[in-house]
Amino acid sequence: MGWCRNVDRDGRSLLQTEVVTAYDPHPFTTAPRALPGVDALWPLCLAIARHRRGTGPAPAPDAARRFHQHRSHGFVLDPAAWHPEALELFSLLKPVLDCPPESPTWVIGQLGQSLDGCIATRGGDANFVNGPEMLLHLHRLRALCDAVIVGAATAAIDNPQLTTRRVAGEHPVRVLIDPTLRLAPTLRVFTDRQAPTLLVCDAAREAEAAAQVGADQVLGVPGLLKENGTLDLPALLHALRQRGLHVLFVEGGGITVSRFIAQGCMDRLHLSIAPVLIGGGRPGLSLPVGMVMRNCPRPPASVFRMGADVLWDLDLRALAPFAT
Ligand SMILES: NC(=O)c1ccc[n+]([C@@H]2O[C@H](COP(=O)([O-])OP(=O)(O)OC[C@H]3O[C@@H](n4cnc5c(N)ncnc54)[C@H](OP(=O)(O)O)[C@@H]3O)[C@@H](O)[C@H]2O)c1
Repeated sequence: MGWCRNVDRDGRSLLQTEVVTAYDPHPFTTAPRALPGVDALWPLCLAIARHRRGTGPAPAPDAARRFHQHRSHGFVLDPAAWHPEALELFSLLKPVLDCPPESPTWVIGQLGQSLDGCIATRGGDANFVNGPEMLLHLHRLRALCDAVIVGAATAAIDNPQLTTRRVAGEHPVRVLIDPTLRLAPTLRVFTDRQAPTLLVCDAAREAEAAAQVGADQVLGVPGLLKENGTLDLPALLHALRQRGLHVLFVEGGGITVSRFIAQGCMDRLHLSIAPVLIGGGRPGLSLPVGMVMRNCPRPPASVFRMGADVLWDLDLRALAPFAT
């Protein structure tokens, strides 16, 4: 993505500080006019997310009409009034921002993979498949969503914090899918108290989970574990919705994201590809096999540059659930 090309020698993004200038066309003024960039856009994105959650007022359209909310097109920026990098970031985040509070649960997923389709080495090392620009993007998505969801393997191997420490914004609720209760209660998400955490299991094992990590950190979902051993993800989405969590970010790993897609429970996927070869590592997407090429789904897609990585923004809404 254009706005992500700029990193300093330590790999830190310079986006936070960059401003470019455009010349005022008025013939009597020669002073350069700064176009608002990512720094100005991000607080606006946070205000939109807070308003959707009911924790902040509606962002007021500014007098210069640089942004407004269109009845059918959602939030819109005036293309002449913003730095191109802000416009590009906005087009990537717009589907998340446009979610109205009364809409059904909306789910975005992400995976960062190598050229050969792996999200980590075989031993589980994923630090770091992608560059710093993509990490920043993950933290932005966390800040805009109500909850971040990871599978048990990611929680066990990475011991992540799942916070928004690279950007301004609230931490999401941290949701860990752990049907076999394999996660250690010493993991950071259970002990650091930086944000609410929910260990998800079938309601039949709720008491057992509560004894491990405390009842306030367990979400037992009735009927989560189906007879065929798979999880009923719509039942999970329903349970999260009842807790007021309706815009959800599935951050990984490959098994978890794949199962959301297979059950038709993901609206959007940010699949970023890094120029690295892992060879025989942990797979990214793993979906039921397609037999005939013309029947394989080809979702609408846009491409964004993220430093050295390429992000595919895939609209999965038209995808039928896979037969599993
Ligand atoms: N590059 C990236 O973008 C990225 C992102 C996140 C993680 N990672 C890496 O990915 C690796 C882990 O990924 P992974 O694909 O092996 O595992 P994962 O998706 O993190 O976790 C899978 C496990 O979570 C539970 N689970 C989650 N959803 C389930 C469902 N719908 N049905 C049944 N069980 C479900 C199961 O636990 P049980 O086995 O206990 O039943 C399952 O085996 C780690 O090495 C991590 O570092 C990479």
